[in-house]
Amino acid sequence: MSSITPHGGTLIYQIDETLETSHITKEIVTDATTRSDTELIANGAFSPLTGFIGSKDYASVVSDMRLDNGIPWSIPVTLPVSEEVAATLHIGQQARLVHDGETYAVIDIEETYIPDLENEAAHVYRTTDLEHPGVKKLFDRGNVYVAGRIILTKKQRDPLFEDVTLEPIQTRSYFQRKGWKKIVGFQTRNPIHRAHEYIQKTALETVDGLLVHPLVGATKSDDVPADIRFKSYKVLLSEYYPKDRTALSVYPAAMRYAGPREAIFHAIARKNYGCTHFIVGRDHAGVGNYYGTYDSQKIFSEFTPEELGIQPLFFEHSFYCKRCEGMASHKTCPHQDEDRVILSGTKVRELLRAGELPPPTFSRPEVAKILVEGMAPTV
Ligand code: ADX
Repeated sequence: MSSITPHGGTLIYQIDETLETSHITKEIVTDATTRSDTELIANGAFSPLTGFIGSKDYASVVSDMRLDNGIPWSIPVTLPVSEEVAATLHIGQQARLVHDGETYAVIDIEETYIPDLENEAAHVYRTTDLEHPGVKKLFDRGNVYVAGRIILTKKQRDPLFEDVTLEPIQTRSYFQRKGWKKIVGFQTRNPIHRAHEYIQKTALETVDGLLVHPLVGATKSDDVPADIRFKSYKVLLSEYYPKDRTALSVYPAAMRYAGPREAIFHAIARKNYGCTHFIVGRDHAGVGNYYGTYDSQKIFSEFTPEELGIQPLFFEHSFYCKRCEGMASHKTCPHQDEDRVILSGTKVRELLRAGELPPPTFSRPEVAKILVEGMAPTV
């Protein structure tokens, strides 16, 4: 049984934990986001990338959402350094990538270039507002980009997620073993509430398997931390999801909050993990009011189904409706907002911090309990 073709045709795998790096004197100290990008390039989640992109790919990704060879790619995966560091780097040289004092990869420096960050923000984030967490990070991270092929020499092993960190090659073989042909991937940076569960299960009605694939890389400080979320996912899945049709694994990427462009990026990565379908609901990967509710769905029309290769499944804003006595969406429920349980992320965080449980129509009680215990301030 064959599985879905990786993006660009080949699943990249550039991990060699036995590679000797001690003779490489040049080192580039990086942040956690570069570390997670490196890991995802190396394990194939970002196929066909083999390293941090150069200026040609960068220009075409920013303006046209495509690599220079025409393959769809919506977010530039770049390695930013300061001007001082850039001045010490030489083309053709190898450098170790270091994070928290640990060498985790080697890069062959092929190019350094100065990006137009305003232009990148305006295209990728659709705003240059520094209040946007992705834009802020873009401007904070360094204004010279280093390009080149990487090899990962040390995987990140978070004991919290040890049993649920599957690389693309592993999810692909898991799906094959299960005999799943159609697999829907679900991205989230949040606890899974009833609306998430509803769209996942609605999708699952028409495919063979569900990959719950929460992002656990860097997120903004007011998002619920990954360790707390993870406890809640495990309980939720064990109580409410069919074991033989559901897989849980982490997606160790950093969140960009780039809304529409990130929805494409998320879908492409999940294709590399072996998913054939990908859920895109309301304001996917959005933040604040920067994007329209369905902008992350509309952007898919800028690509042909063939060139993306993974099928998005779009969902309208979903909620519990008291009159319907069940989960529904704007598409299926004829009632008014006052009949519907709709809580904003901010409202839920307020409840949790105050030690109050969100209602069972919003969040499963087992999930709410874990969140309230995890989020209550420790005094
Ligand atoms: S994010 O990673 O996309 O920022 P989030 O947890 O907010 O994470 O959403 C996960 C997925 O569920 C996204 O596809 C989002 O569009 C969808 N989603 C979240 N809430 C709802 C809702 N109430 N109705 C429909 N889709 C939703």
